[in-house]
Amino acid sequence: MSANQLSGTTAIVTGASKGFGRAAVAALSGAGAAVIGVARDPARLANAQAELGSRFTPVAADAADPVVAGQLIDQYSPSVIVLAAGAAPLSRPLHQHTWSSFSRNWEVDVQQAFHWTREALLRPLAPGSVVIAFSSGAAIAGSPLSGGYAGAKATVRFITSYGAAESERAGLGIRFLSVLPQLTPATDLGAAAVAAYAAREGMDVADFLATRGPVLTPEQAGDAVLELAAGQTLSPGAYLLTAAGLKELQ
Ligand SMILES: NC(=O)c1ccc[n+]([C@@H]2O[C@H](COP(=O)([O-])OP(=O)(O)OC[C@H]3O[C@@H](n4cnc5c(N)ncnc54)[C@H](OP(=O)(O)O)[C@@H]3O)[C@@H](O)[C@H]2O)c1
Repeated sequence: MSANQLSGTTAIVTGASKGFGRAAVAALSGAGAAVIGVARDPARLANAQAELGSRFTPVAADAADPVVAGQLIDQYSPSVIVLAAGAAPLSRPLHQHTWSSFSRNWEVDVQQAFHWTREALLRPLAPGSVVIAFSSGAAIAGSPLSGGYAGAKATVRFITSYGAAESERAGLGIRFLSVLPQLTPATDLGAAAVAAYAAREGMDVADFLATRGPVLTPEQAGDAVLELAAGQTLSPGAYLLTAAGLKELQ
C-alpha cells in the first residue's frame, strides 16, 4: 500500500481521542482514509469528529474488550488497524504498587494487542492489510517507576511478532508491526512519566528533558504511522521511534 493507496481505505485507530492515537487519526485521515476512532470518553472523541467531519467515525468503547475488537473488525473490514490505546501507569516505584496497579498495562495494553491480533488473523483481514501496535522504548530500557508497564509493552511487541509469523505461515499477507516510541512529555501519559522520572532524579522537568535530546511530537508519531501503514517495503517487525524518525530493530 502506498500513501496514495490509503485514500478510500478504512482504518481503525484505538486511543483515537488524544496523544499518539489522535495524531495517527489526523495523518491517516489526511491521506484520505476513513477512520473509525475508538476511545472511552465520548466527549473527547466528539472533538475529533468536529475537526475531521464525516471522514471520522467515533466509537466510545473499551479497546481491551474482545467483543469490541471482533465487532468493529466484522463491521468495517479495515485494511489498517492502529492500536494506540494504552493505560497511563501509576508512576511509583515497585514497592509502592499493588498487584492491581502493577498489572494495569497487562489488563489494557496486552489484552488489546492479544484480542485485535487474534481477530485480525481469524477473520482474516484482506491481504495487504496492516496492524500497527504501540509498544514502547520502555520495552527495551525498562521503566522502574511504572509497575508492569515495560514488561507489558515487551509482550505487545512479542504478540505483534507472533501475529506476523502466523500471517506468514498461513500466507495471509497481513503485516503486523510494532512501534516503540521514546518517552515524550508531549502527551498526557508521557508528561506524567517525565514528571515522575525528573522528580526521582531531583531535577525539574526542563533540566531532565535537556539530558534526553529532541522531544518526539505526536505529529511525528502520526507521520510514522502513515509511513508504516503505507510502506510496502518496510518489513514486518519492530521499529524504534524517536524525534529522528523510525529505526528498524533486529
Ligand atoms: N507518550 C509517551 O511518552 C509514550 C512512549 C512510549 C509508548 N507510548 C504508548 O503510546 C500509546 C499512546 O500513548 P499516549 O501517550 O498517546 O497516551 P494518551 O495521551 O494518554 O492517550 C491515550 C489514549 O488512549 C485512550 N484509551 C486509554 N485506555 C483505553 C481503553 N481501555 N480503551 C480505549 N481507549 C483507551 C484514551 O482515551 P480514553 O481515556 O477516553 O479512553 C486516549 O485517547 C500508549 O500505548 C502508550 O503506552 C507512549
